[in-house]
Amino acid sequence: MKIVHLSTQEGYNRWAEAYDAFENPLVALDQYLLPQSMPEFSGKRVLDLGCGTGRYLSHFQKADSVLACDFSSGMLEKARIKASSLAQVEFAEVDVNRPFPFQDQTFDFLFSSLVLEHVVDINHFFRSCFRFAAPGASLLMSTMHPAMFLRQTQAHFQDGDTEFRFESFPHQVSEFVMALITTGWQVKNVSETVINSEWVDSIPKWSKWMDWPVHLTLQAQKST
Ligand SMILES: C[S@@+](CC[C@H](N)C(=O)[O-])C[C@H]1O[C@@H](n2cnc3c(N)ncnc32)[C@H](O)[C@@H]1O
Repeated sequence: MKIVHLSTQEGYNRWAEAYDAFENPLVALDQYLLPQSMPEFSGKRVLDLGCGTGRYLSHFQKADSVLACDFSSGMLEKARIKASSLAQVEFAEVDVNRPFPFQDQTFDFLFSSLVLEHVVDINHFFRSCFRFAAPGASLLMSTMHPAMFLRQTQAHFQDGDTEFRFESFPHQVSEFVMALITTGWQVKNVSETVINSEWVDSIPKWSKWMDWPVHLTLQAQKST
Protein backbone atom coordinates (compact mmCIF):
# COMPACT_ATOMS: atom_id res chain seq x y z
CA MET A 1 0.00 0.00 0.00
CA LYS A 2 1.36 3.41 -0.98
CA ILE A 3 1.05 6.04 1.79
CA VAL A 4 0.49 9.70 0.90
CA HIS A 5 0.49 12.40 3.61
CA LEU A 6 -1.86 15.34 3.12
CA SER A 7 -2.70 18.46 5.11
CA THR A 8 -5.93 18.00 7.09
CA GLN A 9 -7.84 20.39 4.84
CA GLU A 10 -6.69 18.85 1.59
CA GLY A 11 -7.35 15.38 2.98
CA TYR A 12 -10.98 16.09 3.84
CA ASN A 13 -11.57 18.00 0.62
CA ARG A 14 -10.41 14.95 -1.30
CA TRP A 15 -12.41 12.56 0.89
CA ALA A 16 -15.65 14.60 0.83
CA GLU A 17 -17.18 12.98 -2.24
CA ALA A 18 -16.79 9.43 -0.91
CA TYR A 19 -16.92 10.09 2.88
CA ASP A 20 -20.52 8.98 3.46
CA ALA A 21 -20.17 5.82 1.35
CA PHE A 22 -16.89 4.76 3.00
CA GLU A 23 -17.42 1.93 5.51
CA ASN A 24 -15.76 3.58 8.49
CA PRO A 25 -15.97 1.58 11.74
CA LEU A 26 -15.11 4.60 13.90
CA VAL A 27 -17.88 6.65 12.35
CA ALA A 28 -20.34 3.79 12.91
CA LEU A 29 -19.29 3.51 16.56
CA ASP A 30 -19.50 7.27 17.06
CA GLN A 31 -22.94 7.35 15.51
CA TYR A 32 -24.12 4.67 17.93
CA LEU A 33 -22.63 6.31 21.03
CA LEU A 34 -23.15 10.07 20.74
CA PRO A 35 -26.93 10.30 20.25
CA GLN A 36 -27.30 8.53 23.62
CA SER A 37 -25.75 11.58 25.32
CA MET A 38 -27.60 14.31 23.46
CA PRO A 39 -29.86 16.66 25.43
CA GLU A 40 -33.31 17.98 24.56
CA PHE A 41 -32.81 20.56 21.80
CA SER A 42 -35.96 22.59 22.04
CA GLY A 43 -35.06 26.29 22.43
CA LYS A 44 -31.33 25.62 22.10
CA ARG A 45 -28.72 27.30 19.92
CA VAL A 46 -26.43 24.55 18.64
CA LEU A 47 -22.87 24.82 17.34
CA ASP A 48 -21.41 21.86 15.40
CA LEU A 49 -17.65 22.31 15.05
CA GLY A 50 -16.29 20.27 12.15
CA CYS A 51 -19.71 19.16 10.91
CA GLY A 52 -18.22 17.32 7.93
CA THR A 53 -20.92 16.09 5.56
CA GLY A 54 -23.55 16.99 8.17
CA ARG A 55 -23.88 13.51 9.63
CA TYR A 56 -25.49 14.76 12.85
CA LEU A 57 -27.51 17.74 11.63
CA SER A 58 -30.83 15.86 11.50
CA HIS A 59 -30.45 15.15 15.24
CA PHE A 60 -30.67 18.90 15.93
CA GLN A 61 -34.03 19.34 14.14
CA LYS A 62 -35.78 20.63 17.26
CA ALA A 63 -33.12 23.24 18.06
CA ASP A 64 -33.87 26.94 17.64
CA SER A 65 -30.77 27.43 15.52
CA VAL A 66 -27.81 25.38 14.35
CA LEU A 67 -24.51 26.73 13.12
CA ALA A 68 -22.58 24.01 11.30
CA CYS A 69 -18.90 24.81 10.72
CA ASP A 70 -16.06 23.18 8.88
CA PHE A 71 -12.95 24.34 7.02
CA SER A 72 -13.37 21.88 4.16
CA SER A 73 -15.44 23.42 1.39
CA GLY A 74 -15.97 19.91 -0.03
CA MET A 75 -17.43 18.59 3.22
CA LEU A 76 -19.59 21.71 3.67
CA GLU A 77 -20.98 21.32 0.19
CA LYS A 78 -22.17 17.81 1.05
CA ALA A 79 -23.60 19.01 4.38
CA ARG A 80 -25.57 21.79 2.66
CA ILE A 81 -27.25 19.26 0.39
CA LYS A 82 -28.03 16.92 3.30
CA ALA A 83 -29.53 19.71 5.42
CA SER A 84 -31.43 21.48 2.65
CA SER A 85 -34.76 20.73 4.32
CA LEU A 86 -33.61 21.92 7.77
CA ALA A 87 -34.51 25.60 7.83
CA GLN A 88 -32.75 26.46 11.09
CA VAL A 89 -29.30 25.23 9.96
CA GLU A 90 -26.72 27.76 8.79
CA PHE A 91 -23.21 27.03 7.62
CA ALA A 92 -19.89 28.77 8.07
CA GLU A 93 -16.38 28.06 6.84
CA VAL A 94 -14.38 28.13 10.08
CA ASP A 95 -10.92 26.81 10.93
CA VAL A 96 -10.95 25.63 14.55
CA ASN A 97 -7.20 26.24 14.78
CA ARG A 98 -7.62 29.97 14.15
CA PRO A 99 -9.37 32.65 16.24
CA PHE A 100 -13.11 31.90 16.25
CA PRO A 101 -15.49 34.47 14.71
CA PHE A 102 -18.20 33.94 17.37
CA GLN A 103 -19.58 36.35 19.94
CA ASP A 104 -19.39 35.59 23.65
CA GLN A 105 -22.13 33.45 25.27
CA THR A 106 -23.89 32.59 22.02
CA PHE A 107 -24.44 28.81 22.08
CA ASP A 108 -26.30 26.42 24.41
CA PHE A 109 -24.93 23.16 23.00
CA LEU A 110 -21.40 22.76 21.66
CA PHE A 111 -20.94 19.64 19.62
CA SER A 112 -17.99 18.19 17.76
CA SER A 113 -17.54 14.63 16.52
CA LEU A 114 -14.21 13.14 15.46
CA VAL A 115 -12.48 16.49 15.03
CA LEU A 116 -10.42 16.97 18.23
CA GLU A 117 -7.57 14.89 16.79
CA HIS A 118 -7.06 17.74 14.32
CA VAL A 119 -6.96 20.51 16.93
CA VAL A 120 -3.44 21.81 17.50
CA ASP A 121 -3.87 23.65 20.82
CA ILE A 122 -6.52 21.91 22.87
CA ASN A 123 -6.35 24.47 25.71
CA HIS A 124 -7.00 27.33 23.34
CA PHE A 125 -9.82 25.37 21.74
CA PHE A 126 -11.69 24.63 25.00
CA ARG A 127 -11.04 28.17 26.32
CA SER A 128 -12.62 29.59 23.17
CA CYS A 129 -15.56 27.18 23.47
CA PHE A 130 -16.06 28.33 27.07
CA ARG A 131 -16.11 31.94 25.96
CA PHE A 132 -18.81 31.54 23.34
CA ALA A 133 -20.86 29.05 25.43
CA ALA A 134 -23.90 30.59 27.16
CA PRO A 135 -24.27 30.11 30.93
CA GLY A 136 -25.53 26.54 31.53
CA ALA A 137 -24.38 25.39 28.06
CA SER A 138 -23.36 21.78 27.58
CA LEU A 139 -20.54 20.34 25.52
CA LEU A 140 -20.49 16.91 23.86
CA MET A 141 -17.42 15.98 21.85
CA SER A 142 -15.78 12.82 20.58
CA THR A 143 -12.44 11.89 19.13
CA MET A 144 -10.45 8.94 17.90
CA HIS A 145 -8.87 7.55 21.07
CA PRO A 146 -5.21 8.66 21.41
CA ALA A 147 -4.21 4.99 21.94
CA MET A 148 -4.99 4.40 18.26
CA PHE A 149 -2.03 6.58 17.33
CA LEU A 150 0.25 4.13 19.19
CA ARG A 151 -0.50 1.68 16.39
CA GLN A 152 0.32 4.18 13.66
CA THR A 153 -3.30 4.93 12.82
CA GLN A 154 -4.62 8.40 12.08
CA ALA A 155 -7.45 9.89 10.01
CA HIS A 156 -7.13 8.42 6.53
CA PHE A 157 -8.96 6.98 3.57
CA GLN A 158 -7.99 4.51 0.89
CA ASP A 159 -8.37 4.92 -2.81
CA GLY A 160 -7.21 1.91 -4.81
CA ASP A 161 -3.74 0.94 -3.56
CA THR A 162 -3.09 4.34 -1.95
CA GLU A 163 -3.77 5.33 1.65
CA PHE A 164 -4.14 9.08 2.18
CA ARG A 165 -3.28 10.17 5.74
CA PHE A 166 -4.19 13.58 7.10
CA GLU A 167 -2.29 15.67 9.58
CA SER A 168 -3.39 14.85 13.15
CA PHE A 169 -2.27 15.85 16.64
CA PRO A 170 -2.67 13.17 19.30
CA HIS A 171 -3.61 14.53 22.75
CA GLN A 172 -3.67 12.22 25.73
CA VAL A 173 -6.93 11.62 27.65
CA SER A 174 -5.48 13.50 30.64
CA GLU A 175 -4.71 16.50 28.39
CA PHE A 176 -8.33 16.66 27.25
CA VAL A 177 -9.65 16.39 30.79
CA MET A 178 -7.20 18.92 32.27
CA ALA A 179 -7.80 21.33 29.39
CA LEU A 180 -11.55 21.23 30.07
CA ILE A 181 -11.07 21.77 33.80
CA THR A 182 -8.50 24.55 33.55
CA THR A 183 -10.55 26.48 30.99
CA GLY A 184 -13.59 26.59 33.31
CA TRP A 185 -15.70 23.62 32.19
CA GLN A 186 -17.29 21.26 34.70
CA VAL A 187 -16.48 17.78 33.43
CA LYS A 188 -19.65 15.65 33.48
CA ASN A 189 -18.45 12.46 31.82
CA VAL A 190 -15.41 10.96 30.13
CA SER A 191 -16.02 7.69 28.37
CA GLU A 192 -13.50 5.42 26.60
CA THR A 193 -14.75 2.64 24.33
CA VAL A 194 -12.63 -0.50 24.16
CA ILE A 195 -13.33 -3.00 21.41
CA ASN A 196 -14.86 -6.24 22.68
CA SER A 197 -16.42 -9.24 20.93
CA GLU A 198 -19.83 -7.57 20.76
CA TRP A 199 -18.36 -4.67 18.80
CA VAL A 200 -16.55 -7.10 16.50
CA ASP A 201 -19.81 -9.02 15.93
CA SER A 202 -21.63 -5.87 14.89
CA ILE A 203 -18.71 -4.26 13.00
CA PRO A 204 -16.29 -7.00 11.84
CA LYS A 205 -13.68 -4.43 10.73
CA TRP A 206 -12.95 -3.89 14.45
CA SER A 207 -11.43 -7.40 14.85
CA LYS A 208 -7.84 -6.17 14.61
CA TRP A 209 -8.52 -3.69 17.45
CA MET A 210 -9.80 -6.28 19.97
CA ASP A 211 -9.24 -5.10 23.61
CA TRP A 212 -7.94 -1.74 22.38
CA PRO A 213 -9.41 1.70 23.24
CA VAL A 214 -10.60 3.37 20.05
CA HIS A 215 -13.07 6.13 20.93
CA LEU A 216 -13.27 8.88 23.52
CA THR A 217 -16.34 10.92 24.47
CA LEU A 218 -16.18 14.09 26.56
CA GLN A 219 -19.13 15.80 28.21
CA ALA A 220 -18.94 19.05 30.13
CA GLN A 221 -21.09 21.94 31.29
CA LYS A 222 -20.66 25.66 31.88
CA SER A 223 -22.14 26.76 35.19
CA THR A 224 -25.22 29.02 35.10
C1 LIG B 1 -13.65 12.71 10.69
S1 LIG B 1 -14.45 14.12 10.01
C2 LIG B 1 -15.87 14.23 11.08
C3 LIG B 1 -16.98 14.97 10.43
C4 LIG B 1 -18.30 14.93 11.21
N1 LIG B 1 -18.18 15.64 12.45
C5 LIG B 1 -18.68 13.49 11.44
O1 LIG B 1 -18.67 13.06 12.59
O2 LIG B 1 -18.99 12.81 10.45
C6 LIG B 1 -13.48 15.48 10.61
C7 LIG B 1 -14.02 16.82 10.12
O3 LIG B 1 -13.29 17.85 10.80
C8 LIG B 1 -13.00 18.87 9.89
N2 LIG B 1 -11.81 19.59 10.38
C9 LIG B 1 -10.59 19.08 10.61
N3 LIG B 1 -9.75 20.05 11.01
C10 LIG B 1 -10.47 21.19 11.03
C11 LIG B 1 -10.16 22.55 11.32
N4 LIG B 1 -8.92 22.92 11.67
N5 LIG B 1 -11.14 23.47 11.25
C12 LIG B 1 -12.40 23.10 10.87
N6 LIG B 1 -12.75 21.84 10.55
C13 LIG B 1 -11.80 20.89 10.63
C14 LIG B 1 -12.75 18.14 8.58
O4 LIG B 1 -12.85 18.98 7.46
C15 LIG B 1 -13.82 17.06 8.64
O5 LIG B 1 -15.01 17.48 8.07
